[in-house]
Amino acid sequence: MSLSADDQKRACAAQALEFVKPGMRLGLGTGSTAKHFVDLLGEKVRAGLDVIAVPTSEATRTQALGCGIKLTTLDETPELDLTIDGADEISPDMILIKGGGGALLREKIVAAASHQMLVIADESKCVQTLGVFPLPIEVTPFGFLATLQAVDKAIAGLQASGPLNLRMGKDGHAFVTDGGHWIIDARLGRIENPKALASALSTIPGVMEHGLFVDMATRAVIAGSSGVRIIERN
Ligand code: A5P
Repeated sequence: MSLSADDQKRACAAQALEFVKPGMRLGLGTGSTAKHFVDLLGEKVRAGLDVIAVPTSEATRTQALGCGIKLTTLDETPELDLTIDGADEISPDMILIKGGGGALLREKIVAAASHQMLVIADESKCVQTLGVFPLPIEVTPFGFLATLQAVDKAIAGLQASGPLNLRMGKDGHAFVTDGGHWIIDARLGRIENPKALASALSTIPGVMEHGLFVDMATRAVIAGSSGVRIIERN
């Protein structure tokens, strides 16, 4: 029997629970795959598992509270054991594109505060070359056009190109992140050198964060139509 896309998300979320141990301080990701994980973690918590968690978005906070998961903040708990989060793309060397759901800044802060980051995803997220999924770049609304131009220049400097679109919300206005920022989606098609692009974007003052997660994920649980596999970063 082959699993549907949503079944695959739930299957990798279920497998990820194996890495959660009593007493752990967790980071909880955002998105449809992470949502399954929070759901399943909630079941374990209600059955007696003792963990504490930092959510990476207001949506995950609301869900986790509803599931009875004990929450903390990075101010109270600045060091976490394990973050479990989804991804939009995963390269063979486990560089990620994240931020399709707009939570990349908090996701990166939480992952950086964690000893380990476990990615949960369905097979469709594994790519040979990153970039088909538009790269989310979170920017301050202040000086937006200047920042947009600087982003364009940084991308061109790496011999890449593609439309840069301001992400729009359902209300027809710019999509606003939990941190009050906007998102530029960079449709690059191929990102030949993600590390160089990550460094170049990080030097632009109006860029709060970008969706390239380099050297952060340590392990990934990938679900395909016929089962789940685990990959480790070398
Ligand atoms: C949220 O901002 C994202 O980084 C998500 O983790 C990513 O978009 C994966 O989401 P899905 O699990 O919904 O595909």
